Amino acid sequence: MTKIFISQASNFAGQGVRISGWIFNLRSSGSIYFLQIRDGSGFIQAIVDKKAVSSEVWSACGRITLETSVEVGGTISKHPKKEEYEIQVKELKIVQVAEEYPIGKKEHGPDFLLDNRHLWLRSPKQWAIQRVRNTIINAIYEYLNKEGFIKIDSPILTPNACEGTTELFEINYFDEDKAYLSQSGQLYIEAAIFSHGKVFDFGPVFRAEKSKTRRHLTEFWMMDAEMAFCDQEQNLKIQEQLISFIVNKVLNLNKKELEILERDIEPLKKVKAPFIRKTHQEVVKELNKMGSDIKEKDDLGGDDETMITKKYELPIFVEKYPAEVKAFYMKRDATGKFALNNDLLAPEGYGEIIGGSQREDDYETLLKRIKEHKLPVKEFQWYLDLRKYGSVPHSGFGLGLERVVVWICGIQHVRETIPFPRMINRIRP
Ligand code: 4AD
Ligand code: MG
Repeated sequence: MTKIFISQASNFAGQGVRISGWIFNLRSSGSIYFLQIRDGSGFIQAIVDKKAVSSEVWSACGRITLETSVEVGGTISKHPKKEEYEIQVKELKIVQVAEEYPIGKKEHGPDFLLDNRHLWLRSPKQWAIQRVRNTIINAIYEYLNKEGFIKIDSPILTPNACEGTTELFEINYFDEDKAYLSQSGQLYIEAAIFSHGKVFDFGPVFRAEKSKTRRHLTEFWMMDAEMAFCDQEQNLKIQEQLISFIVNKVLNLNKKELEILERDIEPLKKVKAPFIRKTHQEVVKELNKMGSDIKEKDDLGGDDETMITKKYELPIFVEKYPAEVKAFYMKRDATGKFALNNDLLAPEGYGEIIGGSQREDDYETLLKRIKEHKLPVKEFQWYLDLRKYGSVPHSGFGLGLERVVVWICGIQHVRETIPFPRMINRIRP
């Protein structure tokens, strides 16, 4: 009997195979056991007929509990009515009889599930979410490789802030006073465009965010991309293509997962370039009409993003934020009042998934901004250097992986999109 994964079952109809996995559900009708087996690659029903197995196998079935690990051998058969395959068991070996499993079929609260995250990861929805996440990660690599980007790994231990000083995790660093966990690798990969042209990084970043919302983690994964000889217009095009590529991949590769998540895929099918484009000023006016009290000079808050994105079916580029609410490195438009930047907001109420901008490429202007933001010039000297030796117009963006996963999966909270979420009030398990 060939050892197979459940996902291969349809290729083995009528043949004898062995499958190893875990029992996630079982029932018996006296002379037959129906065992639901999961092996990571898929789900299958194993049918144990008392008449077809030895008395040892039959009595082993009586000892099976939820999450018991097993190896079964038998013949693959097609379900009489559905496009599903089953295994008619001849042999069964218990690997371990599981103790009483704490996660049952009844509703559990989020705290209980998060305390048991190491077990909760096995539940079908959590299985589906991690598979979608995996597709998104691979799609990002595939798109960037196809477009000629080189992966540049940025450091995680840094002596200063990238995105603003209030959200830094501080650590002791030998003779240096302090070091900080990186909020984004952007500044470092900017250095690499002068060597490689188009580059990206993709890794964990850290924010000591005080925000307790469905969108915020303190440790999350970011992909930063950066392009030389690229203005903000071209920057938007790349973001649009990347997001359309990702959504298309998930629609093609994760049909089963989206079904388990009960995701309405109609809105996802509409995610194609060109996306909606609005300036920050236009969005503020629109929000005011909808009842928000957002002011002209305010960054968009979470509730504002929810409100505006519920109105539209396509992702929205919000461009040209007031320069003073944005990071020091953003280039400004001709008026000097607005940043040449964008947030990309996902539809259906999800909000920001990407932040991007053209970067200030003039030495003196950048120096002035660093001083205005009261940042230590000495620490940014290397970054200023990049504006001394062959400076070029350049742009880039950072994509928050968990924000993309939560939207595409159509779930409520980013805490379910990462295997072990870290939030203000949670660092375990
Ligand atoms: O908008 P942000 O802060 O931009 C940057 O860090 C730039 N340096 C990126 C760049 O231009 N290379 O963060 C980028 C993205 C956001 O759009 C959001 O999707 C995600 O990172 N993000 C978070 N995701 C989860 N939890 C948090 N606390 C997040 N903060 C930002
Ligand atoms: Mg942002």
